[in-house]
Amino acid sequence: SLPDSVRLFEMSPRDGLQNESGTLVPTATKISLIERLADAGMTHIEAASFVSPKWVPQMGDASDVMTGIRRKEGVVYSALTPNLKGLEGAIAANVEEVAVFAAASEAFSQKNINCSIAESLQRFEPVMARASEAGVRVRGYVSCVLGCPYEGDIEPERVAEVAKALLDLGCYEISLGDTIGVGTPLKAKRMLEAVNRQVPMGQLAAHFHDTYGQALANLYAVLEEGISVIDASTAGLGGCPYAKGASGNVATEDVLYLLEGLGINTGIDLQAVIDTGYWITAELGRTPGSRVAQAKGPC
Ligand code: HMG
Ligand code: MG
Repeated sequence: SLPDSVRLFEMSPRDGLQNESGTLVPTATKISLIERLADAGMTHIEAASFVSPKWVPQMGDASDVMTGIRRKEGVVYSALTPNLKGLEGAIAANVEEVAVFAAASEAFSQKNINCSIAESLQRFEPVMARASEAGVRVRGYVSCVLGCPYEGDIEPERVAEVAKALLDLGCYEISLGDTIGVGTPLKAKRMLEAVNRQVPMGQLAAHFHDTYGQALANLYAVLEEGISVIDASTAGLGGCPYAKGASGNVATEDVLYLLEGLGINTGIDLQAVIDTGYWITAELGRTPGSRVAQAKGPC
């Protein structure tokens, strides 16, 4: 059965903008995006990424972004931290929640964070300890849960193992990433069932990219299984620098329209998100990748 309410985790400032190649998006634009999203009613915003600027130049101003935003009461602003160096940067910038990210595919783990899955989990141990000491909550991601750009199909049991390892390390929630958007509803459901044998449903989130146009269908399938946390990106911004051809997360506007139609509450103002999507894509020289935004238009 479907949940009564869904918590949306907004990804556009991080998963969205990290993939913008060419010119760097100005720090002030990133800050303005985050503030507009909070004003639209978002309560969870992944705002930046404390990764190596050699690997992801677009996230090189993470400290300035995190210290520059006007923080709104009741909103969690989080950041990716792949290692201790990243976490220390995040703590210095007053970040209250961070995320570590592992993969269910060995090849993707090497391409994305330059180490094996086992090494990454080991690397997260001191990160978890330091975060706990600093009172910082940690979310965990598993990438390639429905397929890998290098290895193809991924066994659901592989995903479950990595998700369980992140839970055991102390992550409060595990977000399941269909990094390259290849999943279909039945596959998504089977993967989730395998993971749920190891991790309680209330600690899982769906992070689906829309490369093959299946993300909304996949979300409906996992909502029926009991998922109540969804990662999405305004205007469908994004992709992954280490997954060629991958498009952005499912568009927030499209998810909101789906949820409103199902009578599921999020507390987010759809029109305000649509307007924010038109604004940020104009800044980037494009139009929103959301079908709902295209249909409704800016106000
Ligand atoms: P490495 O090269 O193995 O690391 O990279 P290293 O420890 O050998 O350090 C190399 C250099 O990077 C050193 O600098 C370090 O100081 C620096 P140098 O001495 O050469 O001048 N460095 C850092 N600088 C700033 N912040 C840091 C940091 N760490 C090291 N935190 C590393 C390993 C993990 C750092 C690198 O591979 C990396 O940054 N990877 C990030 C990749 C990334 O951001 N990918 C996209 C996000 S994941 C994603 O999108 C998937 C997700 O959305 C879910 C889904 O869709 O599936 C979450
Ligand atoms: Mg992603």
